[in-house]
Amino acid sequence: MFMLTETCTAHTDLLANIFVGLGCSTTPNDLVYIIDGSSSLGAADFETAKRWLINITSGFDVSLRHTQVAVVQYSDTPRLEIPLGRHQDTQELLRDIGYISYLGGRTQTGRAIKFASHHVFPSSNPTVKATRNRIAVILTDGRSQDDVVDPAMDAKAQGIALFAVGVGNEITNAELVSMATKPSSTYVLHVEDYTSIGSIREAMEQKLCEESVCPVRIPGTVNGQKGFDLMSLMGIVEVAKKVQGSLVSEAAYLLSPHLDVTRSTREIFPEGLPPSYVFVATLRVKSPAHHMKFDLWRVLSQDRIKQVAVTLNGAEKSVTFTSTSKFINNSSALFLPKRLFDTDWHQLKLLVKPKRITCYLDDTHVEEQLLEPVVSIYINGKTQVAKKVNIETTVVLQKLRLYCDPVQSQREGACEIYSVVRPKGPPGPDGKPVSKTH
Ligand SMILES: *[C@@H]1O[C@H](CO)[C@@H](O)[C@H](O)[C@H]1NC(C)=O
Ligand SMILES: *[C@@H]1O[C@H](CO)[C@@H](O)[C@H](O)[C@H]1NC(C)=O
Ligand SMILES: *[C@@H]1O[C@H](CO)[C@@H](O)[C@H](O)[C@H]1NC(C)=O
Repeated sequence: MFMLTETCTAHTDLLANIFVGLGCSTTPNDLVYIIDGSSSLGAADFETAKRWLINITSGFDVSLRHTQVAVVQYSDTPRLEIPLGRHQDTQELLRDIGYISYLGGRTQTGRAIKFASHHVFPSSNPTVKATRNRIAVILTDGRSQDDVVDPAMDAKAQGIALFAVGVGNEITNAELVSMATKPSSTYVLHVEDYTSIGSIREAMEQKLCEESVCPVRIPGTVNGQKGFDLMSLMGIVEVAKKVQGSLVSEAAYLLSPHLDVTRSTREIFPEGLPPSYVFVATLRVKSPAHHMKFDLWRVLSQDRIKQVAVTLNGAEKSVTFTSTSKFINNSSALFLPKRLFDTDWHQLKLLVKPKRITCYLDDTHVEEQLLEPVVSIYINGKTQVAKKVNIETTVVLQKLRLYCDPVQSQREGACEIYSVVRPKGPPGPDGKPVSKTH
């Protein structure tokens, strides 16, 4: 899923340029797994836990520049099974995880966390900005017999992101929450038993990826959602004319044809795009743009080839999502949310996953389609908004965001769209909706 090397070799002619393709497989991470080896598991569950670690680790590029992995197994005492930096090859690391033998004993989780933050992660120099992401994943099946709160706080104070994965009913959610980084909706995972741990593989991979690719929280979002607010990052709020938005309380920005909204991709997505994300645009396609074809958002490579694009085609009344695929030149999905082109306000939402994409208009499901596996984007090109493909295009934009957490697709309603909030209600006295209904 995160294989990047294949693409790079396929483009060796272009390697002469400083060609950097990024995704979560290639960000610099120090990743430490702290796994429960207490007697309550039993040898069979311990084997399953190792398989799961192998599965979630296989997408990373294990090398000096990219991800380094360590494994600590604990019961009464922690045992360093694999130190950071031992492996410079993913397959060798996975093999050695498979060789780890089961400890057995009591559950002293707090002690294990303390051991990891003091002896496994390289000591951090507080005056130097950390250049590697520090991530710990605690996998446990039982209530800890020692205090976890202080060691976890200490680790978090050292800039370590703590994920807590609980297996079974022994472990309480409160304990997981007390260990993990906030918000717990991001950093706590819970699964019924070891046999069903495979069901949280994709979620764990996405979370690890988000941790490395999406360090930024969008200001003003509930729970500090991670992602990219393109309205501010692309400078739209500074250069475009401010106008009335979909509700009286909302502001929007007029993107006239003469406005060039272009940024270096490196500035916007310094570590590339995560494998899954939610693209949300609240917009109004004015006449005559509602008959035109243009890219609402696109990422170009250095030689101006489109790597990712959301294209609105007013003539066909279609929305196309295009991404660079591993096997064919591009992979695209075409949707027909016809109302988007009626010159009124709408919210377009695309839930992009590694192999499928779902389109929503004003919170209504339009369609789901399969996607070819995509490749990571190259960040040394340009990112653009509302680029005309034909002639004059005027778009009014109120929101343009990428959320890194796919679950945000369910949280992000279209409450800024009047027809969604009050499907049959009359408009306000001035013919405009009057209330903000968040
Ligand atoms: C690991 O991945 C393999 C292959 O996809 C799958 O068959 C197995 O169930 C997974 N195991 C766990 C524990 O996730
Ligand atoms: C599809 O790929 C071709 C060549 O590889 C590229 O020129 C074109 O821009 C891509 N199409 C889209 C819609 O991105
Ligand atoms: C992909 O695009 C390149 C150049 O644009 C072309 O040479 C090649 O045949 C295309 N491959 C496929 C599978 O369409």
